[in-house]
Amino acid sequence: MIELCHLSKSFDGKSILDDLSLSVPTGKKITIIGPSGSGKSTLLKLILCLIKPDSGKVLVDGQDMALLNVDEIYGIRKKIGLLFQSAALFDSMTVEENVGFSLLESPTSLSSKDIQVKIDQALDLVEMSGFNAMFPSELSGGQQKRVGLARAIINNPEYLLFDEPTTGLDPVLSTNIENLIVRISDELNTTAIIVTHQISTIMRTSDLIYYLHEGSLFDPETPETIMTSSNKVINTFINGKTNG
Ligand SMILES: Nc1ncnc2c1ncn2[C@@H]1O[C@H](COP(=O)(O)OP(=O)(O)OP(=O)(O)O)[C@@H](O)[C@H]1O
Ligand SMILES: [Mg+2]
Repeated sequence: MIELCHLSKSFDGKSILDDLSLSVPTGKKITIIGPSGSGKSTLLKLILCLIKPDSGKVLVDGQDMALLNVDEIYGIRKKIGLLFQSAALFDSMTVEENVGFSLLESPTSLSSKDIQVKIDQALDLVEMSGFNAMFPSELSGGQQKRVGLARAIINNPEYLLFDEPTTGLDPVLSTNIENLIVRISDELNTTAIIVTHQISTIMRTSDLIYYLHEGSLFDPETPETIMTSSNKVINTFINGKTNG
């Protein structure tokens, strides 16, 4: 379980997150929405311990990330798959080297045959079988995102974090990625945190939707309630997206 307890974070004296608390229910997919610059990516970085909070705690499976040493943080990160906004693939590596990166680069008890099986399974799950030897520059944006997703799931993570997984994709590709997120989360029983601006992703991939407002979160909505939310801020935000 991922728990954020009274997190605060400022940059250059400007408060971005202010006493924010959140428990992400195991096995659920939650979506974080909110205006550009409201602190959504900052939240994901705090969970991964890429940055430290000014105050408050991030607990992953009950462990306070601030109290762990580098090896322990690395151990926790292995449970977390991450898909960056840009797929962030390594240009000089093939698709399969990108997907298997964490297994190929760090000591593992797996044989090279087992690693190959895992790579092929992950590529199969994102419908990219047969693209093993290609380089990222030879793939479309949507294919790159799918390879990024395969890389994120290769260790069967308990948690998946997605930062804008569908931004910039056409509607067909967005639907494709949204369906993949739902299918993979369900098949692997993963807990997912999705940051998105895209209405289709909010509606298709969320169990609960949290709006980040002035550093903390409103009570969650669901895909059924969000369109007619009685919260004026959320209502204005959603109407702005659906009308424009
Ligand atoms: N390392 C940093 N140093 C200084 N300011 C930062 C840093 N990281 C983020 N910020 C600031 O914190 C605020 C929140 O940034 P963040 O990237 O979390 O926003 P976001 O909600 O993800 O926005 P977007 O929807 O545009 O991706 C912004 O004002 C940004 O300039
Ligand atoms: Mg962001």
